[in-house]
Amino acid sequence: LTGCAGGDSGSSGEGDDNIVVGFSQVGAESGWRTANTTDIKSAFEDAGIELKFSDAQQKQENQIKAIRSFIQQQVDVIAFSPVVESGWDTVLKEAKDAGIPVVLTDRAVDSEDESLYVSFLGSDFILEGERAGDWVNTEFADTDQVNIVELQGTTGAAPANDRAEGFRNVVTDPKFEIIATQTGDFTRAGGKQVMEAFLKSNPDIDLVYAHNDDMGLGAIEAIEAAGLVPGQDIKIVTVDAVKDGMQALADGKINFIVECSPLLGAQLVEIVEKVVAGEDVESRIVTEETTFTQEQAIEALPDRQY
Ligand code: AHR
Repeated sequence: LTGCAGGDSGSSGEGDDNIVVGFSQVGAESGWRTANTTDIKSAFEDAGIELKFSDAQQKQENQIKAIRSFIQQQVDVIAFSPVVESGWDTVLKEAKDAGIPVVLTDRAVDSEDESLYVSFLGSDFILEGERAGDWVNTEFADTDQVNIVELQGTTGAAPANDRAEGFRNVVTDPKFEIIATQTGDFTRAGGKQVMEAFLKSNPDIDLVYAHNDDMGLGAIEAIEAAGLVPGQDIKIVTVDAVKDGMQALADGKINFIVECSPLLGAQLVEIVEKVVAGEDVESRIVTEETTFTQEQAIEALPDRQY
């Protein structure tokens, strides 16, 4: 895929000092998001590229406004992490018509027209869900009936859709039953609130599958408040591997974490520089990630950056 930088954006090709990038962030809903914002800001600062940063507070309408404002300001590149997958075609077409390339960061859109963006940098969320599911299959290999509750991410967000799908791709044995599933909006408070409700209506929960660490940490609070022991009475598997999550895993309150890396800044800078220079960029760049058991979390924690 060829970068279509420039158009009437003015400063393209004159060196990093003159590049201006508009970035619309989802919000500050989780530890992952905070780490992602910090990493992106510092990568652009290190590269000497001006970053116009806008926090959408988890609202699509705010992201659309921010993107329109970046178009008006004729930035060289727009990057954004879409809060939900659908509903972007109109504003992405406006960016394309203005000659401003768009890079999707972290999350995908479901636009059929892939010419509306030059690249998508981020994790394979389906694989993350499958990795969580693989652990569940092994962990409960000798158990007859397993009652699962699921704390979903933001409704309509790519990581919520895909982590739900990936998990179901591999957790197929009929002995596994997802007895309740609800969104906790990727927040700790949301995870706690939904888990409290789950505990009230379901006396026999074996496992929590939380789409991120923060919701898992909220679930731990709810489980402890109900007089149960997280990690033992109710097992917990989450996604992200931020420091607080890793600490809970090391402490035995979470049982397994699938990593989702927020450190996308350096790769995003590289894409921006290539696009502005008119070089080819890969249309899909998948983040490299791993998984963590309790022992691995204890080992990794001292060096964990976020
Ligand atoms: O899009 C990535 C997801 O968004 C992270 O897993 C979650 O913590 C964040 O809010």
